[in-house]
Amino acid sequence: KELNLEFTRCELDAVEGVFLTETIRANWNKIWNFKARPDDLLISTYAKAGTTWIQEIVDMIQQDADLEKCKRATTYKRHPFIEWSLPESFGPIPSGLELAEVTPSPRTLKTHLPVQLVPPSFWDQNCKVIYVARNAKDNLVSYYHFHKMNKMMPEPGTWEEFVEKFMDGKVLWGSWHDHVKGWWEAKDEHRILYLFYEDMKENPKHEIQKVVRFLEKDLKKEVLDKIVEHTSFEKMKSNPMANYTKEFEGIMNHSISPFMRKGAVGDWKNHFTVAQNEKFDQDYKKKMAGTSLNFRSEL
Ligand code: A3P
Repeated sequence: KELNLEFTRCELDAVEGVFLTETIRANWNKIWNFKARPDDLLISTYAKAGTTWIQEIVDMIQQDADLEKCKRATTYKRHPFIEWSLPESFGPIPSGLELAEVTPSPRTLKTHLPVQLVPPSFWDQNCKVIYVARNAKDNLVSYYHFHKMNKMMPEPGTWEEFVEKFMDGKVLWGSWHDHVKGWWEAKDEHRILYLFYEDMKENPKHEIQKVVRFLEKDLKKEVLDKIVEHTSFEKMKSNPMANYTKEFEGIMNHSISPFMRKGAVGDWKNHFTVAQNEKFDQDYKKKMAGTSLNFRSEL
């Protein structure tokens, strides 16, 4: 089937106050009724918080750092993205639900859903979850560039418009503030390992060790070192199985902005004006009041 390169960008609408794409809304019953298995591991993030990075780390741990095994398929195919599917006009791309069905257990699955929209069977089955959070401003910047390079995403508008939309939570997967807070609270009730992108950047080995312990693995020092090396930004940028150049061709345009863009903490300083920064910080204080959750926006 010919790929239709003239696709229009999707429109968002809310499911229980959270903005989602038309195809996610159309499949919502199936997604909500997803049957998790007790040995499923769920990787959850707000979009652009370092999902692909933690996915590669988890896969390396699970495969005992066997590089060939980790290259068995692209990130999208290795870890089904449960709520994701595209309109047929985008071509024959399997949905997350379809991929989950054909993936043998133990499965590692991915979601960007806020905690209240996670299919309840994950909690019924007491599944482990790894959540990665990234400071709001870097997350926003990364999300803006991703919207520009990826026609699966809604139209971002101008930078100024996108900053407003992000602050109002009127972006795909809803409010960043609610997302990070919701998962932070949930970690006291469920088996959730809550990690920060900034910590992973500062001391990858230390954070990878946390994942190793959470997954109840015991790895030799050499294996751990190999994982640290293979999951560095530079290595992942040049890894076709992790950098999204082998998936969604004609949909993602890496010449507009590569998927592996900068991989840094503090890039927001190159984007926000002084006035935008002040407004963002004021709004942030209100939205994040009363939480014990703390982010670092620079290292
Ligand atoms: P930037 O756009 O700031 O570069 P996700 O996988 O959730 O879509 O997140 C993508 C972001 O994570 C991008 O951020 C990407 O460069 C960054 N990233 C991916 N792999 C990384 C790694 N190994 N180290 C640091 N950042 C990484």
